[in-house]
Amino acid sequence: MQSLIVFASGAGSNAQAIIDYFKKNGKAKVALIVCNKPNAGVLEIAKREMIPFLLINRRTLGETMLLEQLKSYQPSLIILAGFLLKIPATLVHEFAGRIINIHPALLPAYGGQGMYGHHVHETVIMAKEQKSGITIHYVNELYDEGNTIVQAHCKVLENDTPDTLAARIHKLEHFYYPRAVEFLLGEG
Ligand code: GAR
Repeated sequence: MQSLIVFASGAGSNAQAIIDYFKKNGKAKVALIVCNKPNAGVLEIAKREMIPFLLINRRTLGETMLLEQLKSYQPSLIILAGFLLKIPATLVHEFAGRIINIHPALLPAYGGQGMYGHHVHETVIMAKEQKSGITIHYVNELYDEGNTIVQAHCKVLENDTPDTLAARIHKLEHFYYPRAVEFLLGEG
């Protein structure tokens, strides 16, 4: 059974979608959740699903102890699912080609530092874009700049609010992220 590590800072709906998908198909399991926010919803998910979790901060994210803990799980992939801290170079190098991220827009547009969650949707609506979408990509040392694995599009409607657009984007994410992970596992 291949093991997955999920990094998340927020509600964790993508983490949940991945957990559920692999519970059904049995090819992999989420062995660890790493989180930097003590009140994040994803920690409730970890507890409910009985998945071990680590609460970290910006400093401990760069420490050798965390690196060694992550290595001990021998993860096939490290999956960023709404994780808001920058991944340090040490981790990018140790897990080269095995860290992926999901971004709620069509990169390279609407990416980069500070562009996360609602900020992205607000900016897309302000710019009167007619389409948005998701980008699943490899992680390198720069925010949102690693090679793209897959993108999926959706419409932006004239009366969309950041919330209605976020809901449409989340649906795309929950469908494509687990399947992209499965595809990458198959390649390994
Ligand atoms: C997701 O929409 C994800 O694309 C976004 O945060 C949300 C997390 O939702 N990530 C970023 O904006 C990264 N730049 P979730 O906690 O419900 O999975």
